[in-house]
Amino acid sequence: MSFARGIVLTRLDALPDPGAIVVVPHPDEPFASILVTRKGQAISAFRNKCPHAGYPLQRSNGQVMLQEGRYIVCAAHGASFGLVSGECAGGPCNNGDALERIAIEVRDGNVCVA
Ligand code: FES
Repeated sequence: MSFARGIVLTRLDALPDPGAIVVVPHPDEPFASILVTRKGQAISAFRNKCPHAGYPLQRSNGQVMLQEGRYIVCAAHGASFGLVSGECAGGPCNNGDALERIAIEVRDGNVCVA
């Protein structure tokens, strides 16, 4: 599924720093969610689907686990991904795997699909 250009994913000031949140742009499609991440001035967005086995990355309470303030850790089996790059950094994902990046832009304090 694609995400319509211009849709607002979150307010910039609602993003933890460093951190990541899960956004569901279409309430009727809860499995089409997006990770929005922040580390300082670097804002990134990725499809919320782990390349290891395809699960969403958050825990059952909706929180996204971070490691050392710079990696996202998949709650399913522990693969880790760069918070900014989305590249696999360890665990059961394969070397060269990465989260699928979604182009975004920050406009008027909102993080939007570009
Ligand atoms: S689905 Fe993410 S580590 Fe297995």
